[in-house]
Amino acid sequence: MDVVQRVLISEEKIQTRVTELARQISQDYQGETICLLCILKGGLMFLTDLAKRIEVPVTFDFIGISSYGHATQSSGVVRITKDLEESIEGKHIIIVEDIIDSGLTLSYLIKNLESRNPASLRICTLLDKTVNRTVNIPVDYVGFPVPNEFLVGYGLDYQELYRNIPYIFVLNPDY
Ligand code: IMP
Ligand code: MG
Repeated sequence: MDVVQRVLISEEKIQTRVTELARQISQDYQGETICLLCILKGGLMFLTDLAKRIEVPVTFDFIGISSYGHATQSSGVVRITKDLEESIEGKHIIIVEDIIDSGLTLSYLIKNLESRNPASLRICTLLDKTVNRTVNIPVDYVGFPVPNEFLVGYGLDYQELYRNIPYIFVLNPDY
């Protein structure tokens, strides 16, 4: 039995969309330097592809946040497992996330980061599962709206697996 129930977004579609997002970001931040703030570990693939195509100066930092444990549903419990290395005060920050589901993880993170006084703070997510949203958060850049199914690949995991698969797929629940 195959672990892939169905490919939702092909590698080619992801790459095309990431290029479009990078172009948009480059236009919006002309003359500025951006700090891309990657949410580990899911945002990693997206960050590297996006960053390579952005045409303004970019720095990276990484934050580890845990809201899921090993379940497939949001627990609402959020904790910082690895903090940023640099101060973000006065910087233009774009949070790079793999997927927004309930929004609980990001709403917690936004409050935390805003208290550190960045010059600006925007959100860029590859996938947006809008039907499950329980808290309202402003999302500035979205790769793809997605249905309410458990998705893996391209950074997204199930029990830490499948992050390296270059496309997004629906996990076969019987696998
Ligand atoms: P939220 O707090 O409910 O918005 O959950 C956001 C986090 O849950 C994301 O950063 C992912 O790590 C994880 N997540 C949500 N939906 C999925 C999914 O379909 N597959 C894999 N991880 C998911
Ligand atoms: Mg994540």
